[in-house]
Amino acid sequence: MSEDLESLDGIGSSIASKLRAAGYTTIEALAVTPPGEIMEKTNIGFNTILKIQKAARDMISADFKTAKEFYEKRKNMRRCTTGSKRLDEALGGGVETQALTEFIGEYGSGKTQLCLMLSVTAQLPFGEGGLNGNVAFIDTEGTFMPERIYQISSSRGMDPEAVANNILVARAYNSSHQCLLIDRLFTLVPENNIKLVVIDSMISHFRGEYVGRENLAERQQKLNQYLHKLIRLSEAYNIAVVLTNQVQANPTAFFGDPNAPAGGNVMAHACTHRVFLRKGSKNVRVARVIDSPYLPEIPVRFKITEKGIEDVEED
Ligand SMILES: Nc1ncnc2c1ncn2[C@@H]1O[C@H](COP(=O)(O)OP(=O)(O)OP(=O)(O)O)[C@@H](O)[C@H]1O
Ligand SMILES: [Mg+2]
Repeated sequence: MSEDLESLDGIGSSIASKLRAAGYTTIEALAVTPPGEIMEKTNIGFNTILKIQKAARDMISADFKTAKEFYEKRKNMRRCTTGSKRLDEALGGGVETQALTEFIGEYGSGKTQLCLMLSVTAQLPFGEGGLNGNVAFIDTEGTFMPERIYQISSSRGMDPEAVANNILVARAYNSSHQCLLIDRLFTLVPENNIKLVVIDSMISHFRGEYVGRENLAERQQKLNQYLHKLIRLSEAYNIAVVLTNQVQANPTAFFGDPNAPAGGNVMAHACTHRVFLRKGSKNVRVARVIDSPYLPEIPVRFKITEKGIEDVEED
């Protein structure tokens, strides 16, 4: 990709020549390099670099690409195992990078358990179904359980201390804080080799704070803005983004499932893969991929155990 660095907001000819001299010749490179590294090599001020990087990231997703470039990018797509072969298959081989995967379900349906499991498996090498990287976990409900990370990793023969050390967790206290943390990911992800970002849950603060019809438009606009940031993040850094969502009772739905995912069309359109979870008997859960562009909607069963997520044997 050849482009004029000067076309970015905040780049004049002198900054552009400093960047080129340091080897940053493309907008793509500017978008994905840790800012600290650019500062070291160019002596450009940190705030200027952050501004340039923002412009670069905006540019990447706005610009035209050839089909070949799209193809090359798709080839780098990776998949992370959930621990259940059935569920992986239903997802087309696991949770994809360069995509948003949404787990939807009522309380106790296993959303958080799946997020915790993926926070462990994402650290596995490629050959073992992992993403060979670290994890950023935004917890909005205070349900992130470090003990569970230790339990899952040690029962899988991984070093629990090392695994726990590679998961960066932030508790988001309200929706603005959540948005701030999402913005922060654009530097955190490349600086820490993060390959999985979890937001559990994407929507609860938004639902709790923007109450009433008159606030719905504003809520949806904000949600949309941040979902699109997450899409760009997943593409720029080839990472998997996993979001959880609740179901909301919809008493006006006479047909179909009265429990629709929250977040409306904005959530529905932004998420590449949507997975409905429901409780089965005991520790068994049923997952069904919905609205997928290419995956069949066949329900699969998995179970929640000490080891995290596993297949149900008798299947
Ligand atoms: N160590 C474990 N072994 C077996 N099952 C477990 C274990 N830990 C948790 N579970 C199961 O996971 C369930 C909780 O699921 P989880 O917290 O993922 O639900 P959720 O979908 O995130 O719900 P919420 O909407 O309340 O956040 C528990 O009810 C329990 O059945
Ligand atoms: Mg939960």
